[in-house]
Amino acid sequence: MARLKLAILISGRGSNMQALIAACRTGTIAAEITVVLSNRADAAGLSYAAAAGIATRVVPHGDYPDRAGFDRALNEALAEAGVDFICLAGFMRLLTPEFTTRWRDRMINIHPSLLPAFPGLHTHRRALEAGVKLAGCTVHFVRFETDTGPIIAQAAVPVLPGDDEESLAARVLAAEHRLYPLALGLVAAGRVRVVEERTIIDLPQTPSGLLLNPPG
Ligand code: GRF
Repeated sequence: MARLKLAILISGRGSNMQALIAACRTGTIAAEITVVLSNRADAAGLSYAAAAGIATRVVPHGDYPDRAGFDRALNEALAEAGVDFICLAGFMRLLTPEFTTRWRDRMINIHPSLLPAFPGLHTHRRALEAGVKLAGCTVHFVRFETDTGPIIAQAAVPVLPGDDEESLAARVLAAEHRLYPLALGLVAAGRVRVVEERTIIDLPQTPSGLLLNPPG
């Protein structure tokens, strides 16, 4: 199978991007990161990517009058870099239906909750307010509605007594850094199919313990 030519889209810190860079460098994922792209010039992850020798590009959303204009510019940048697959990693822009349709089943995202619970912002605060005992993260194909789309993999972590937003976010983030490379690896290996808006995952072994709680 051909290696995916990947773009990672970020808006900030880029710790999930770092996990993907590290995983792609080991050669275990059939993907090469062609460009790291951000809508913000001050995204901290950009300098990390540049230092890692990866091409970076900024498409400032403020330069465009509307979402459609921004998404067109994004598409041009992706085409110039020869990208055929997108990983959203803390990319804080809503995308147009035209964009999500064009990249249907070729764009994945990580979200810090067990979707479909708590889509959108302030997930950890809302999880604590709801009193859930399990939190976690989800990697999914991207559809137009925010944080929806066929789920590829999820990792669960406990909510512990005394947790605040910060401690819960840190526990979930550690799981994100394991889950995102695992999910991308499955996709890049051609092991993930979307059938009737669900994923079917062809695993060489039973998924028990693997997809729900990837080993640390
Ligand atoms: C992560 O929690 C991710 O799930 C969410 O935004 C955060 C980005 O963090 N979509 P980072 O930029 O990857 O460190």
